[in-house]
Amino acid sequence: MEELAARIDSSLRGTATLVDFLVAIGYLEKEDDAFANTASTQRWFTSAGQVDYTPGLLWTHEAWAMMGSLAETVRKGEPEQTLWEAMIEKPHLGPLFSSYMGAFAADLGPDLLRHVPVSPDYRRLLDLGGSHGLHSIRFCQHYPQLAAVIVDMPSALTETGPEIEKAGLSQRISLSPGTLQEHEWGEANDLVFYLSVAHNHSAEENRLAIRQIGDSMNPGGLLVIHEYLAETSLDALNAAFRLTLLLETGTQTHRHEDYCAWLLAAGFSAIERIDLEPREKGSLILARR
Ligand SMILES: C[S@@+](CC[C@H](N)C(=O)[O-])C[C@H]1O[C@@H](n2cnc3c(N)ncnc32)[C@H](O)[C@@H]1O
Repeated sequence: MEELAARIDSSLRGTATLVDFLVAIGYLEKEDDAFANTASTQRWFTSAGQVDYTPGLLWTHEAWAMMGSLAETVRKGEPEQTLWEAMIEKPHLGPLFSSYMGAFAADLGPDLLRHVPVSPDYRRLLDLGGSHGLHSIRFCQHYPQLAAVIVDMPSALTETGPEIEKAGLSQRISLSPGTLQEHEWGEANDLVFYLSVAHNHSAEENRLAIRQIGDSMNPGGLLVIHEYLAETSLDALNAAFRLTLLLETGTQTHRHEDYCAWLLAAGFSAIERIDLEPREKGSLILARR
């Protein structure tokens, strides 16, 4: 215990109390006089696991502080300050949030590759709200004919350029900092990603964005939406996510029927819904232009 307390620069008493708690809830286990990560902790929160969600824990440290304004948000029906406004005031929030999103993206990446059919004719990928850039990087690595443009707010893109460079893709992936509402996305997009972005927007904003996406695409192109769909009866995960959204961005999850209505009105067809496994991963909606 002394060694552990010294490693985390903490008091012996505080460390011992925390370790007892982590053992009790199954994050650590005791082996003789030593403590070790349980298999689940190793799976989810270390580099030995398939995906390391440590950035999520680091984000929780910030999210807890935001929870302090829950009562005011509930009274008012929207946050006093959105996450995006907070990121301008506190610049460390942007990269932290992007790396948290990056952990989700690492988990989701293989599902996307499996379910998204990319035609050999496709050339231009538009990644709206593309943040960390990992989805564009993965698809450009897998499909050498693709070049991508990532649109996101500057707060989300601070680490994206270096990541693209590290992947050796600077010639094929470019960044377009700005908001979706400013939209200058060109006219010949073949593949458009709208991944985990719709829940950060109102129904009206999504209806408009999907129409503008449609207008920017080549015939035969494919729009890929990733989302956590609002069901008629909300499970705990969905309900908790909606409460977090109310607090952080003042938005909500939307229903599959809403997406279908926006897509049909924008001229999309062949709409396909794929529910991912495990269900916590959300759903994909694919639609053809
Ligand atoms: C939940 S994250 C998803 C990131 C990434 N697409 C993924 O699937 O991992 C939502 C992203 O949308 C971006 N975003 C939210 N509102 C936006 C807006 N109005 N214009 C541009 N980007 C926006 C955020 O900065 C963030 O990077």
